[in-house]
Amino acid sequence: MARARFITFEGGEGVGKSTQVRRVAQRLRALGYGVTTTREPGGSPGAEALRALLVTGDTERWSPLAETLILNAAREDHLARTIRPALARGEIVLCDRFADSTRAYQGAAGGLAAEFILRLEDQVLGETRPDLTLVLDAPPQLGLGRAGARGGAEARFEAKALAFHERLREGFLKIAAAEPKRCVVISASLSEDAVFEAIWAALAPRLEAAGDAPIASEPH
Ligand code: TMP
Repeated sequence: MARARFITFEGGEGVGKSTQVRRVAQRLRALGYGVTTTREPGGSPGAEALRALLVTGDTERWSPLAETLILNAAREDHLARTIRPALARGEIVLCDRFADSTRAYQGAAGGLAAEFILRLEDQVLGETRPDLTLVLDAPPQLGLGRAGARGGAEARFEAKALAFHERLREGFLKIAAAEPKRCVVISASLSEDAVFEAIWAALAPRLEAAGDAPIASEPH
């Protein structure tokens, strides 16, 4: 089994990714691992500026193609300035959303051609691909209820029609089915503690011993 150093958390709205990223980071640090937590869109100053353009305003503000181009510009900066340097320091990187979100939101749900998204993904990611992806899965109604209760200004995607969120869920499940070595589907309908334990059960066997993480001599 590949050792997990670059770990991504994916799923629809309100599935509890951010909470779980925090909890996993806490446990890993308690065990002695160096950990960087980050998110997309965002995770570097330039990418956070692009995030503000993407997640606010009218739902039809950007087409799926425009979103994909902005997301990939943000991702390129995030990889160069945050993710690759942290991996080169030998840290575990926990990322709240990554390239699968573009496949699912702009592709499966938004209707943009998968081949285009994957070609762009290849260019931007290069060799830096997640070792493990935790797909938090819940019926859209449940997640949208939680996300709505949370409120806030970043609701541009939440506000899309229920059919969009259903296609989104199917999109994430299809990615997981196509890449079973990398992806583990976790039921996010359970309690926060039960979701955490399911994530930990998937993650723990993939960890290398704390302190044994190879230090890359140069960023890759
Ligand atoms: P968040 O609410 O999980 O922080 O994510 C922000 C929003 O950005 C969320 O509604 C999903 C959307 N998004 C995409 O549409 N495509 C992407 O590739 C990423 C990373 C996020």
